[in-house]
Amino acid sequence: MVEATDDTRAEDLVFDPPAEFAANAVAKGSLYADAAQDRLGFWADQARSLLHWHRPFTQTLDWSEAPFAKWFADGKLNVAYNCLDRHVLAGNGDRVALLWEGEPGDSRRLTYAELTAEVKRAANLLTALGIRQGDRVAIYLPMIPEAIIAMLAVARIGAVHSVVFGGFSAESLRARIDDAEAKLVITADGGYRRGRVSPLKPAVDAALESGDSTVEHVLVVQRAWPDDEELAWTDGRDLWWHEEIAQVDWEHEAQGFDAENPLYILYTSGTTGKPKGILHTSGGYLTHVAYTHRNVFDLHPETDVYWSTADVGWVTGHSYVVYGPLANGATEVIYEGTPDTPRPGRWWEIVQKYGVTILYAAPTAIRSFMKAGREIPQQSDLSSLRLLGSVGEPINPEAWLWYREVIGGNRTPIVDTWWQTETGGIMISPLPGVTAAKPGSAQVPLPGITVEVVDDKGRPLGNDESGLLAIPEPWPGMLRGIWGDPQRFIDTYWSKFPARPTGPVYFAGDGARRDHDGDIWLLGRVDDVMNVSGHRLSTAEIESCLVSHPWVAEAAVVGAHDETTGQAVVAFVIAKARHADEANAEGATNELRAHVASSIGAIARPRELFIVNELPKTRSGKIMRRLLRDAAEGRPLGDTTTLTDATVMQAIADRLKN
Ligand code: WT7
Repeated sequence: MVEATDDTRAEDLVFDPPAEFAANAVAKGSLYADAAQDRLGFWADQARSLLHWHRPFTQTLDWSEAPFAKWFADGKLNVAYNCLDRHVLAGNGDRVALLWEGEPGDSRRLTYAELTAEVKRAANLLTALGIRQGDRVAIYLPMIPEAIIAMLAVARIGAVHSVVFGGFSAESLRARIDDAEAKLVITADGGYRRGRVSPLKPAVDAALESGDSTVEHVLVVQRAWPDDEELAWTDGRDLWWHEEIAQVDWEHEAQGFDAENPLYILYTSGTTGKPKGILHTSGGYLTHVAYTHRNVFDLHPETDVYWSTADVGWVTGHSYVVYGPLANGATEVIYEGTPDTPRPGRWWEIVQKYGVTILYAAPTAIRSFMKAGREIPQQSDLSSLRLLGSVGEPINPEAWLWYREVIGGNRTPIVDTWWQTETGGIMISPLPGVTAAKPGSAQVPLPGITVEVVDDKGRPLGNDESGLLAIPEPWPGMLRGIWGDPQRFIDTYWSKFPARPTGPVYFAGDGARRDHDGDIWLLGRVDDVMNVSGHRLSTAEIESCLVSHPWVAEAAVVGAHDETTGQAVVAFVIAKARHADEANAEGATNELRAHVASSIGAIARPRELFIVNELPKTRSGKIMRRLLRDAAEGRPLGDTTTLTDATVMQAIADRLKN
């Protein structure tokens, strides 16, 4: 290890894996050689050893219709059986699967036997409600065990879930229901957030209020509801989960489905106003998440207590709360609420209470704890922790070092994991018992994964050169398409670079650089996608939302640097002349910020919103977001000579200074 001095560059700081950790590590360095020697054979071995196949596969990859890949295509499996029944059959039914902690302090513990039983029953309920293989079910739930039970029950019967994060608005929910043509919505009356009941069912009602929808039933889990308020109910459509489930059988035999049977759709923001329904399928996806969860997190399922703080509404919640950990028979903590409720140290109290050994969190959360001060985590006993993970955005070296020292007691390796909703699972990460870790770098592609840093013509770059992250070879967890829009799938991900003899090359949308050792440093998005608190937001989506407000003529949105959240949404708005009075009145900016929160969700609410007279545009009419970002970040204005009116930018910059 190199000690930090004032002039040490971050990339020269290296932490070797502790000897004891390396000696007991699940992943050995030989994985790299095994995968390099026969990449497809390596994945076939992983698929066979990590999963139970109802019918073994004989083909590993079919890339003949690239970019539409098929993995393990002639095999059959049941995803839920792999996450549940087989652990019980192997004699591990008494092992705890879920250690659930509600925000108010209530808790539930479900063993693998109990979770399997619950999922079987829920599968019978879905069948009773007319859900069949291939049907889509929208899930809009807080972080309660039923969220996981519902996802696994949908998977068990070969149907397709579309989980919508509970923080999204009624409008966003409706757009997702319509796009996937969901037949059923599973929700709760409400959940707990920041010490209060946060209602969900009313948003479902609002979503389904206007026009015909494909939804036949709304299944409602009873979780939380304010005493003094009435819960609206639509007879015939709305059903209580607890009442319905009491009427179905406990027995359910899992049937094998094709490896390429769709498992879920998860919507994510792109560069246009319309979210993309990322489609994942079964066998390849489950192989990828089980393999990465075991090796990257060094999972010893008999002894570890794993905790990923992600919500099931995001891909981390799919891959590393539900499918990866449960496929591996892990014991995991699930927490309903916010990190600082009711006390600022809630997360650390949970680590102590359950003896968490592996923690997977986002840099934003780490930075906000850093800001609040180390006294808070130091009030809890964190000595059970032996491995820390980071995901969602680049982790700055300062946050990395704080995480290791204050949370990890200078003992734990850290795995900084790069991946995306589209990749399904982790692609770039250290292996904790093998790789010497560099704070701030996600480092190397995992064994079996090929990643390159290329120029905009797709030509591989050398060390110390910045370029774009590209994935030249298909991988098992890769998205299989965008729901209902194959052309957008091809255009967005596979058309940026010229195809190679091996097929098209995947464009990740991230900038990257390899350092002098060849380690990869992620440089953030290169498209109009922002990353706020590790969540992806589209500039175009927020702009079109602002323009839908009656006062707004034009809007431009940028992601500006933010110390805690990585990036923050900053909006610039031109008001319509006939609404100038309202737009210039006090409270107008808050009204417009609230409009974004209510139409998309609170995470999209602009940190700042400026009502301006003009926006900087090129002569061809394109908004120069780069200049707006410079102004929002307080940088001196760059080259404004290509603007139609260079004084516009100066006026905006002057406004921002005040
Ligand atoms: C984008 C994907 C992966 C699950 C959560 C986010 C950024 C993600 C890292 C990392 C640097 C990262 C990228 C990527 N990102 N992990 N370890 N270092 N950047 O999933 O919403 O699909 O966003 O998050 O920009 O493209 P997502």
